[in-house]
Amino acid sequence: SHAADREKLLSEPGVYGTFAAFRIETDWGKLDQATRIANLTSFRGVVEQHREKLAIDSYLLRGLSDHADFMLRVHGTELKDTQQFLVDLQNSAFGRYLTSVVLLSGLTKKPNYVPGFPEQLKADLKGPSESGPYVMVLPIRKDTEWWSLSQEKRAAMMQEHTEAALPYQKTVKRKLYHSTGLDDVDFITYFETAKPEEFHALILALNKVKEARHNRRMGNSTLVGTVRSLDQLIEVLAQ
Ligand code: HEM
Repeated sequence: SHAADREKLLSEPGVYGTFAAFRIETDWGKLDQATRIANLTSFRGVVEQHREKLAIDSYLLRGLSDHADFMLRVHGTELKDTQQFLVDLQNSAFGRYLTSVVLLSGLTKKPNYVPGFPEQLKADLKGPSESGPYVMVLPIRKDTEWWSLSQEKRAAMMQEHTEAALPYQKTVKRKLYHSTGLDDVDFITYFETAKPEEFHALILALNKVKEARHNRRMGNSTLVGTVRSLDQLIEVLAQ
């Protein structure tokens, strides 16, 4: 079996992204380490079994988020494959200790506004962004007025958004998921950075532009953590 083409799943439009954050039951801490390791082996097994179709990223939230202990980001071309993975995880030996606290799905799409931006802005947007170790995930819901505006009006506001955010594109890496109809939110915004203070400044800068007035819900819940390989995550949870 071949591992899913991660590169494609993480870069192409038309891919589903699911964010699943879990809390680990307090009973977990009462288990001896050998039992914890045996349970975590079942976790690793379920992830490996589904890597054929899915790209699965893991994050440690414990210590930075009070919502959850860890998070998985799952990319796939079929939502039912993601569902099967998460059902298999819940049914595994490790799954008995898990409570799902956040579950959000969205779809990657081709840029809606960028093609109409001035050439210079388009070029500036192509610059590289630094990644991790920090991760922030903010669900966003727009108001009904936003969706009733013409494409032209929204494009003008998104250009303003982009110009305000551009100074931070070097230090903040971003990825956007469209969730309208697939979840209770309209967007899931995903960020990685080495500098949380830059991310903080970016949010303050974006809150000033007109487009932000159409955010009915932003964050709530904001998920914050660090990027970890599956092995690194398992090591922390085994302790
Ligand atoms: C859309 C740039 C940070 C929320 C966009 C688009 C661009 C952009 C170019 C338009 C994509 C398209 O053509 O469809 C940036 C840059 C950022 C940044 C350079 C800084 C690194 C943020 C942050 C948030 C955010 C911090 C909120 C937490 C959104 C949302 C959309 C969007 C919700 C979709 C709007 C829509 O389609 O109606 N951003 N952004 N962005 N951005 Fe940002």
